[in-house]
Amino acid sequence: MSISTPCSREDLIVPQYAFVPDAWTTTFQEGLLADKSEIVGKRLLEVGVGTGAMAIFGLTKLEVAHYYGSDLDPNLPTLASQNIERICPDEASRFMPILGSTNLLTPVDKNNRSIILETDIVIACIPQAIRPPDKEVCFDDLAHYYPGNLFENYQFNSLALGLNEALLEQFMSVVRETKDYNKRIYLNIAGRVGLENIKELFKSHGLTSEIVHQVVIPQCPSTSLQFFVDIETASTDNAFKCEFYSDPEGNCQISANEAEKRRLQKDPVFHKLYVIKGIPQLNSVNLNQFLITFLDCIRQQLAQLYKNRESSPLLPYYN
Ligand SMILES: C[S@@+](CC[C@H](N)C(=O)[O-])C[C@H]1O[C@@H](n2cnc3c(N)ncnc32)[C@H](O)[C@@H]1O
Repeated sequence: MSISTPCSREDLIVPQYAFVPDAWTTTFQEGLLADKSEIVGKRLLEVGVGTGAMAIFGLTKLEVAHYYGSDLDPNLPTLASQNIERICPDEASRFMPILGSTNLLTPVDKNNRSIILETDIVIACIPQAIRPPDKEVCFDDLAHYYPGNLFENYQFNSLALGLNEALLEQFMSVVRETKDYNKRIYLNIAGRVGLENIKELFKSHGLTSEIVHQVVIPQCPSTSLQFFVDIETASTDNAFKCEFYSDPEGNCQISANEAEKRRLQKDPVFHKLYVIKGIPQLNSVNLNQFLITFLDCIRQQLAQLYKNRESSPLLPYYN
């Protein structure tokens, strides 16, 4: 499915510190549109609003009642407001930036907590890569990486999904506090660590997961896949294989090892990207035992890797 976005990249103001909307953004839009009947007329909060590209789409195409936008980078909710004012001024009154820095669902200004409690739908496309120790910090670093060492207590941090896991945990705590099990969460998640494991992530926090959209997209050629190679190596019995593809249709699956070799040779590599709806359930379910053992094994290896790193390499993460 191809959809036209209401704004081209040229219309958006995208400073160096903001994420440039790309295939991930378009996929997320397509996924939400496919599930529009669940979203129309609701109060929606986007965690990691960036430039406001998704917000412009939500306001103009999804007919949300209110669109709240928050971000860890305190500059971005204001930037999103400015972009919305310029590009779709008639819809701007339904956009509410959550000002300041908001780490997932934890705003600096505690008064904003009530907005979060009242939200019907949370959406997020947030980093699924742990910041490599030796990588130079880039301007839009927060859009691509998260500090793995701050998420060591999350089991799925071992698959670079610690930040998403923390969001699911916080979302479920809002669901339980408000007793509103009609709330929904939509995540844009790469399939590199395998769909079955991603489903376990949702299940372990008391949500069933429904794939509302999926595509195969090119892996960013400048991103090292070493982390994924490492987790394959950690699986001593070779039981764990990441899901990359050598073809754009996603028919020829290759391991991370092969994918990294191809990338270094400048051959294209692809992976799946899923838009997943999380549906809260009353009871949480235990993880399967094989996965727990495997995640623990990788966790120990990552802990070795993090040992010599600063505890918080980048602001504005806070407790
Ligand atoms: C990949 S960008 C997506 C931006 C926007 N949704 C889009 O598609 O154009 C991820 C965004 O998440 C924000 N982010 C990263 N870590 C976050 C956190 N812990 N809490 C809230 N936002 C975060 C980044 O600053 C960035 O704006």
